[in-house]
Amino acid sequence: MTAPLIRSYDPKDRAAVRRISCETALYGNPIDPLFEDRELVADLLVRYYTQFEPESLWVAEAQGQVIGYLTGCRDSRRYERLFRCRILPLLLVGFLTRGHWHHGRTLHLLLRIWRSERRWSGARRSACAGYPAHCHLNLDREFRQAGTGSGLLKAFLNQLQSLHVPGIHIVTATDQGKRFFTRASFRLLMKYRPVPLPETEPREVWVMGKKLSILTDH
Ligand SMILES: CC(C)(COP(=O)(O)OP(=O)(O)OC[C@H]1O[C@@H](n2cnc3c(N)ncnc32)[C@H](O)[C@@H]1OP(=O)(O)O)[C@@H](O)C(=O)NCCC(=O)NCCS
Repeated sequence: MTAPLIRSYDPKDRAAVRRISCETALYGNPIDPLFEDRELVADLLVRYYTQFEPESLWVAEAQGQVIGYLTGCRDSRRYERLFRCRILPLLLVGFLTRGHWHHGRTLHLLLRIWRSERRWSGARRSACAGYPAHCHLNLDREFRQAGTGSGLLKAFLNQLQSLHVPGIHIVTATDQGKRFFTRASFRLLMKYRPVPLPETEPREVWVMGKKLSILTDH
């Protein structure tokens, strides 16, 4: 098999990026057993990156199909602001108008996740001071373990360095993710236990960071 091509995002990749976000949303597995509305899940996970920062989005393409992506962000404070003002309202409207509030189990789980997020977000923000960029990496299952994730990460780190961004952080709860970012010289900044999700093993979330050396132009 020839190695997937790593390239910048193009708006025609939007549907593939949204599909992969749902295929990998539950710790690298499909989200469907937990929540069946893929449009809302994709809005939650990737709308910021496709709509507000497409220039930091990288994709991997094999045989003409997008099989993985890196959604990047140079300034996580901007992400938080736009997520709060532009994306959260869309999610709330979608959640209410598409009848999800009828489902007691979903509502209860979302409330617990929201409370847990509120509890940890301040500590996470402090731990990530000095690491303003962030990214998420996800590949279709059959294309993992062949160097594609490393290729996507390299492309984004080079981009960040050329823009003089001093550091990047990631948040991961998968064993693959922890191994991958440790091998890429990210260091552990903090860890915590999230709300356990139904049908999944208890997890530990790792927040990891990497300082970037500044490139000089000569
Ligand atoms: C985490 C993830 C993005 C990593 O991408 P990847 O392409 O699998 O990563 P790489 O192939 O570059 O490296 C992974 C492993 O494959 C090995 N590898 C790399 N190239 C290889 C090759 N040509 N042949 C065999 N193995 C290879 C690496 O040594 C590494 O081994 P390790 O796990 O023992 O450290 C991907 O596995 C994934 O999408 N997982 C599910 C979602 C997820 O967990 N995302 C992370 C949260 S942000």
